[in-house]
Formats: sequence, structure tokens, C-alpha cells
Amino acid sequence: MGVQKSIAYEGLVRPDRVHGSLYTNPAVFSDEMDRIFHKGWSFVGHTSEVPDIGDFRRRQIGLQPVIITRAPDNEVRVLFNRCTHRGNMICAKESGNTATFVCPYHGWTFGVGGEMRGVPQQGGMGKDFDKSAMGLANVPRLQIYRGFIFACLAAEGPSFDSYLGKARKLLDRACDMSPDGEIDLSAGWLKHRFHANWKMLPENNTDGYHVNVAHASLMRAVNAFSAQAFDEEKGDNSVTRDWGGGHTELDFAARYHQSGRPFQWFGGVPAAKMPDYVARMEQTYGKDMAQKHMIEGPPHAIIFPNLFLAELNISFLIPVSANEVIQYYTPMLLKGAPEVNARALRQTEGAMGPGSFLLPDDACMAERNQLGLAAQSPEWLDLRRGLEREYTDPETGLLSSAVSDEITNRSFWKEYLQLMSQAA
Ligand code: FES
Ligand SMILES: [Fe+2]
Repeated sequence: MGVQKSIAYEGLVRPDRVHGSLYTNPAVFSDEMDRIFHKGWSFVGHTSEVPDIGDFRRRQIGLQPVIITRAPDNEVRVLFNRCTHRGNMICAKESGNTATFVCPYHGWTFGVGGEMRGVPQQGGMGKDFDKSAMGLANVPRLQIYRGFIFACLAAEGPSFDSYLGKARKLLDRACDMSPDGEIDLSAGWLKHRFHANWKMLPENNTDGYHVNVAHASLMRAVNAFSAQAFDEEKGDNSVTRDWGGGHTELDFAARYHQSGRPFQWFGGVPAAKMPDYVARMEQTYGKDMAQKHMIEGPPHAIIFPNLFLAELNISFLIPVSANEVIQYYTPMLLKGAPEVNARALRQTEGAMGPGSFLLPDDACMAERNQLGLAAQSPEWLDLRRGLEREYTDPETGLLSSAVSDEITNRSFWKEYLQLMSQAA
């Protein structure tokens, strides 16, 4: 057997460009699963998806199947979806409520918290068989921040705090749109499986350059205020930001403040149409802070590597292969805000569904990107846009740039290179 040569990632990720093979080479994909998804932190789900004891939901971390459960002690667990007998996938159902998981192969049975309940004909297992040692395995590290569940499949390595860093504020911004300070992801997930490399999604999601072109039909349909967006020549003073750690943002707050009115991020719905929401926000946060939240709206940001805070939607991705990915979307419902939620559902249907205005454009672009990259020349993708005008914002201390600049892509790749250059 030949010796597998390791890939020199330093030669493939440069400050102003990346090599096309990073999107197409199965060996790169395999390294990514190991170094980014299996050794690092990533988003798995949300506590509101398993609100009651016995609730469970299947997920995947990189290529490894897991189950999020609400255990009898009311704690959220993330368990490997693998029977401790001979490895059968213990749970095939997408989600539900149960007291036990029964392995379909030989009938070993586990409680919803993972503890072993029993095995058929236990006598044959020998007298030292210890049921308490044979429960489903928990993921080595689990952290929940304001309902967002993150996991890391490596027992050692960077702490959750150092992984999330300053980007914690982006999760706060999302949750603080709710007068109860909590979001709810129970509306159900739209899933799109398509032929593109997983990195196309985080790269595209905070790319301000494509919007007026790839989403031209949407931009023609929206109101005049929105139609001027993403174009600094038309006065858009939105900002792209590098939050560190590969976390990136398109921040429209400055532009919304310029308009002086709340809910520009929500199609400009008049505040008078959501009186209870406005009153409850003022009650919780005080008049000034409530006004700030309602003007600035929820974040539009990537939490590296797989979570997209998509304003009034939450999205994440599951990588399948170098050429395939599954993207999940759900409306970000706000606890204590039925007036907002009723509209949010309609907005999600209009923007994110398979026949909608927004997401199919992005999926098409991702697939076409993948098709184009099958051509061997030119070898590189150009990411220089804004390199000469990015700056450190004195207020936030974050590297920032104009709305259409590729600082977000460069920030993503900076973190990528650091993780991928680690020894295997
Ligand atoms: S593999 Fe699960 S009971 Fe045998
Ligand atoms: Fe887009």
C-alpha cells in the first residue's frame, strides 16, 4: 500500500485567493471532517427542539450520527447514535418522544438519557456484564448557550469560550429580539440537499457582493429602501465584519439607523401593527434599548463552521461529501412575540422554501459554482475584494469593511487554514 501524502494547506489558502481543489478533492473533505467537525466545536441543535422529557432528535456532527435527547433528569444530552453491542444505529426516526431506544438488531434497550436498561437473555453475557458501563456514549463535550447546543467530539482542545469568543454577542443579539430573551426553533425544518461543497454555504451566507446580482428578481420585488441595499455607491453603509474564529457578519444596523424607523429588517412593517410586541420589548429592555433592538433587528452572521443566524431564520448545514451538502432552515420564532412569529412564518415560506424568492437562488449558485470548479483552469478563486480598504473598527476592535467586500470569505479561510494545518 502506498503512503498517503498529506496535503499542504498553506499552499492552497492565500490571503487573497484559495485553490479550487479545496472544494472538490475528497481527501480534503476527509481532512475537514476530522480536523474541523470531529476535533472542533460545531452547532448541533437547540434546546427548544427537545422541550419535554423523552423528546429526541437525530442529528449529525460531521459524518457521525448523534441523538439530542431530553433525559429523565430534564438535562439535554447529545448521545452517539450507535448501539454499544455491535454498533447498529440505535435511532432511525428523525424526532419524537420515547422512554427507550430499542436496538432493532438484537434488542438491547437504552433509556432516553442513554442509560442501559437491559439485554435479551442476559445470562449469556457472562457474570461480569455490567449494565451501568454499557450505556450509549455521550459526546465528549457539550455546551449550551442561550439554548444553542454546541458539541465537540474531542475531549481535549480549545475551550468552548475560546471557540465562540466575541461572537457570543451575535447569539445574544438574536435572543434579545424576544421579549422573553429566548428563541424557539419548533416550527419544523426545511431541508435542501444539493450538489455543492459545504463551504459554499458559509461563504455565501455572509457575502454581500452577490445579492443584487444573484437575487435580482427579489431585489426588483422589494420596497425602495431594500432595493438600495448592498451597493455602497447608492449609499449603503452596512458593514462586513470578521468576529475572529471564522465567525463573520453582514451588519445592516447603520443603514437601518439611517432610516430612523424600526422593522426595516422586517419589510418595514409599521410598529402600530405589532403593539403587544413593542410594549413587551419596552417592558423587558427599557424604551431605548428596545428601540435599538427593533431598529437593528436580528443578526446576519455565520458561527463557524455550520450555523447561520439568518436574521429571522436559523440555518445549519450537514456536509455529505466533497460535492454534496444538506442545508436546514427554520424560522427563528421569538418567545413571547406571537405577532412577530405569525409574520415570520410567512416570510420563511416566501424566502426559504423550494419555490421561494431567496434560497433557491443561492442553492443554484452553489451548484453552478461546483460545476464551474470541475474545470481545471484557472486554478484559484479570487477573494481580494476589499483587501485594500478593510480597517479595524475603533469601536468594536473588529476587522471591518464595506458591505460588498470579501472580508467575510477571507476570515472564514483564515480560521480554516489554522485548523487544517494542525497535525493529523
Ligand atoms: S447491535 Fe444493537 S443489540 Fe446488537
Ligand atoms: Fe444569497
